[in-house]
Amino acid sequence: MRKVSGISRRKFIQTAAMGMAGMKYIPGIVSGVAPSDRVRVAVIGLGNQGRAHMNWFNALPDVEVAALCDLDKLRVEEARKQLQKINPGSRAEIYHDFRHVIDRKDIDAIACATPDHWHALIATMAFSAGKDVYGEKPLSYTLREGQAMLASLVKNKSVFQLGTQIHAGENFHRVAEIIQAGILGKIHTVRLWKTGGSPGLGFPPNQKPPDTLDWNLWLGPAPWAEYTPVRCHGSYRYFLDYSGGVFADFWCHIADILFMSVAPKGLYSVEARGERPFDGIADAPKWIEADFKFRDLDVYWTTTPPEVPGSEKMHIGAHFEGDKGTLTCDYETRTIHINNEFLNDIHEVPKTLPRSPGHQQNFIDAVKSRKQPESNLLYVREMTIPMHLAVISFRLKRKLMWDSAREQFIGDKAADYLLEREYRKPWSLSL
Ligand SMILES: NC(=O)c1ccc[n+]([C@@H]2O[C@H](COP(=O)([O-])OP(=O)(O)OC[C@H]3O[C@@H](n4cnc5c(N)ncnc54)[C@H](O)[C@@H]3O)[C@@H](O)[C@H]2O)c1
Repeated sequence: MRKVSGISRRKFIQTAAMGMAGMKYIPGIVSGVAPSDRVRVAVIGLGNQGRAHMNWFNALPDVEVAALCDLDKLRVEEARKQLQKINPGSRAEIYHDFRHVIDRKDIDAIACATPDHWHALIATMAFSAGKDVYGEKPLSYTLREGQAMLASLVKNKSVFQLGTQIHAGENFHRVAEIIQAGILGKIHTVRLWKTGGSPGLGFPPNQKPPDTLDWNLWLGPAPWAEYTPVRCHGSYRYFLDYSGGVFADFWCHIADILFMSVAPKGLYSVEARGERPFDGIADAPKWIEADFKFRDLDVYWTTTPPEVPGSEKMHIGAHFEGDKGTLTCDYETRTIHINNEFLNDIHEVPKTLPRSPGHQQNFIDAVKSRKQPESNLLYVREMTIPMHLAVISFRLKRKLMWDSAREQFIGDKAADYLLEREYRKPWSLSL
């Protein structure tokens, strides 16, 4: 790390933040944060979500977006122009190979919005280089990658926030408070859903990748495949070699409220059913249903809403069933059904959970304080495990028994094999 008067830049920022801790929030003063006190963030992967990262971090007074990186030269150039427009003073440098960004000693944190098959590699390389990471969901492509990320985070004392920005909202905090207050009794069943499945994307011919795109680098650790545009930007998520379709795309967003409220433990079986699309080369599930058995809780995932009042209007949601009542919610709304009444809130339940200053600010605060943020790696890894297992059950078309203490399947080598993947050379996950 770059040294500031003999102490590391991260330590310097942390000391400065602690010095400011007693000060009241005065916008005029905060927006005048000296450049040396700002957290320097590099954004890697500049599709829609990466450009959202760029805008979010650029808007924070104590952040400088110091680098932009995408292996697609057109995309990084487009992002640079957009940043110049909103921040004409920006001196962000442009990169096509993320390894050069990670080599930069003056970058404190990486915001990573690449496709899923890159998440673990980029995060662990960043941790090893002394950087913190705001990384997109899903946490990792395989379960073993998630384990490696956690080991690397601990070893390097890094900070990580998953980009599940809905977590920071008022509704999820309030739902968690109501459920944790025990008003609904013991929660025994939770139903999660997301409508719409993954498309097949037709049978387009392979073609030469554009000169402006490094296709070999885009594939990275994934198996070699010939280029066709639908395999790449945006629709990569419908291929199991890179992601897990709509299911993997949205699991973390809505399973978050399950783990925030109930923190289920002792997962012991997973059974997924579904179909891949027949109308194209993409192979992620067109529809999927998955049954998860935890020690004291049954969780069901469906592609269509469950038959509970109001769910038909929600494209994504969670329905909690307790022995005294139920609660149905999505990102912004909630309905409690108790004593034959439908309510939006129970005012007797006190506000017990601290509110977020905003998901990205919560990360930057953690970078300075060295305390883990709300969607930290320990928490989000737990919530991502059922998703990995359901994708494996979908692929193998059978029910799987899980040993949650050892994090392996019970007597099932074929399923264990899918907990990790062999990386294409020269890539390897080293801690
Ligand atoms: N939190 C949310 O609400 C939310 C919303 C949308 C997407 N996402 C997540 O954000 C990520 C990106 O999604 P998207 O829709 O923007 O995808 P996208 O395909 O449009 O963009 C990804 C970009 O990353 C670039 N890229 C790929 N590998 C790279 C590498 N090794 N180095 C540098 N650049 C690389 C690609 O060229 C592309 O421009 C995914 O993980 C997705 O799940 C999160």
